[in-house]
Amino acid sequence: MSFSQIGVVGLGIMGAGIVEVFARAGYQVVGVAESAPAVEAGKSNLSKSLSRAVAKGKLSQAESDEITARVSFGEPFELLANCDLVIEAAPEILPLKIEIFSKLDAAVKSSGILATNTSSLSVTDIANATSRPAQVIGMHFFNPAPVQKFVEVISTAHSDQQVVAQIVELGNSLGKHLAQISDQPGFIVNKLLLRYLNHAVQVLDAGQASKEQMDAAMRELSGYPMGPCELLDLIGIDTCVEILKTIHADTKLEIDEPAAGMVKLVAAGHKGRKSGAGFYDYSEKLDAPTDSNENVKSQVHNDLLIAYLGDCIAMEATGYASKADIDSGMKLGCGLPKGPFEVIESMGIENVRVAQAELAQRTGISAYQPLPL
Ligand code: 3HC
Repeated sequence: MSFSQIGVVGLGIMGAGIVEVFARAGYQVVGVAESAPAVEAGKSNLSKSLSRAVAKGKLSQAESDEITARVSFGEPFELLANCDLVIEAAPEILPLKIEIFSKLDAAVKSSGILATNTSSLSVTDIANATSRPAQVIGMHFFNPAPVQKFVEVISTAHSDQQVVAQIVELGNSLGKHLAQISDQPGFIVNKLLLRYLNHAVQVLDAGQASKEQMDAAMRELSGYPMGPCELLDLIGIDTCVEILKTIHADTKLEIDEPAAGMVKLVAAGHKGRKSGAGFYDYSEKLDAPTDSNENVKSQVHNDLLIAYLGDCIAMEATGYASKADIDSGMKLGCGLPKGPFEVIESMGIENVRVAQAELAQRTGISAYQPLPL
């Protein structure tokens, strides 16, 4: 199958980013959103991103114009009728996604593949809402989609393996690195990332470190491009709460319950960058957070890192994902300088296990215990 026209439903930061990825790779794209203002916001997200690339000299004005010319926008789902693939990038609300997929099923030609960019919801439940579940798949991009090179391709028990292979080939044509996985809450990256982000807010809620100390610690001591509170603001705190609810419903572990600090911010409408404020206020340009308390930074860095490395070891041990896919996901999906197994290698697995046991003992949280050998 050749993909000539791609549809995207939902034109928020992720949807507009996905539109840009396909248009830059030479595909004709149709972007659809539920209202005229949402369509305008999508157009504006695309044009801001392209203008930034032009201003930086990464793209010529002529190239930017060509990319823009490949995209058409509108509201009605009928615009998607001839798409070979439609990717849904709506908010993380299962009933909403189910409604969208049943509309897509009616609007898109029968040979069309339908993909969801869900961050954690069941792709199987979404596929069940259509008359073509074998042609429904997860295609999970990372924010900002034009920058992050990783895409998770999620298949279900319904999936037609030919469809999976076609999506993998398509993903490769976008210059993305793909991992193929089965349908589990949070997939590879969000399962690991969201637990780490939630851990950070639990530390913040407990008054053990400030957001600046945590963000500076992860930037300075592990070379992360952003600290956890900055990243929560980038992803959207409301989205993170929804992802955690899905993961928590599966694991039932207290450490996966959305931390109170996040829930309160969302209730106040402080959802992160997209609403102008979250952990930080974005009314003016911010410098990277700094803090000079080296002891607190070192402790919080140790705790966040060790818990996360333990989760990576546990994920690999279940056979859900390989070390290579976990390392690629964290580096190419989140811009981390090293994959977790590269970090474990350099620390020595025995040292990691000792640190896990110490963390579990000090906090009284048994989920941090190392796995039995
Ligand atoms: N759209 C397009 N391009 C963007 C962009 C955007 N929104 N934001 C930044 N960029 C580009 C810039 O143009 C620049 O490109 P260049 O190298 O070609 O010049 C490059 O990214 C770096 O940008 P900046 O120099 O302006 O800023 P930084 O160096 O601070 O990088 C960042 C910004 C790329 C966002 C970096 O901080 C980062 O990688 N942060 C981590 C983000 C992350 O973890 N994402 C995954 C979240 S999880 C997720 O998305 C899954 C979901 O389901 C929740």
